[in-house]
Amino acid sequence: MERYSPAAEKNKGPILEVLRERLAPTARVLEVGSGAGQHALHFTEALPTLRWQPTEHPAVLPALASNLATAGRVAILPPLVLDLAADSWPTGPFDAVYAANVMHIVSVSLGEALLRGAASVLGAGGQLLLYGPYRFEGAFTTESNAEFDQWLKARDPASGVRDFEAVAAVAEAVGLVLEDNRAMPSNNQLLCFRREARA
Ligand SMILES: C[S@@+](CC[C@H](N)C(=O)[O-])C[C@H]1O[C@@H](n2cnc3c(N)ncnc32)[C@H](O)[C@@H]1O
Repeated sequence: MERYSPAAEKNKGPILEVLRERLAPTARVLEVGSGAGQHALHFTEALPTLRWQPTEHPAVLPALASNLATAGRVAILPPLVLDLAADSWPTGPFDAVYAANVMHIVSVSLGEALLRGAASVLGAGGQLLLYGPYRFEGAFTTESNAEFDQWLKARDPASGVRDFEAVAAVAEAVGLVLEDNRAMPSNNQLLCFRREARA
């Protein structure tokens, strides 16, 4: 598998348990930043009636497409390009938008583009599920997350662990109401938002 992520392998089990609770069996899910496709493969193996739409930045799409083609999973649609910087999203509506470990990789403005784009493609009552580390009231939840933030910024100064409150405020402004802020293993959170009905 190209671009295999050990972290994705470790967190896929606990995330699946939350998806089981929150997603209808035939939910149409749009994944942003699918990476190697490990989450798409794991979740659709356990929940084979989902319709999972993986996406990636154009630079990563070929590796993702190659990994997914090998598996030939019916529940996974052919992966599409989604570059948050280009702001062109697949046509919805989707029942859920899922992004794992993307908010701290992209800049603050691209993170906001993710929230806006998710709100635009979700049907009323649809969910945005964001997995990753966050800061709360300006503080890291652990020393290891503070070190991770330093490591991210040394690599790309525009990246970094985001403030939960800032993400939740932008989400609310675009019509996404926070329903759950769930602590997950390895000092991560799963933020679960629900799309309000449009006026
Ligand atoms: C840390 S990886 C997470 C991959 C996967 N979701 C996982 O949990 O293993 C972050 C992902 O964000 C994607 N990404 C970075 N910039 C992006 C952009 N502008 N638009 C869409 N995806 C982007 C990267 O290609 C990468 O696959």
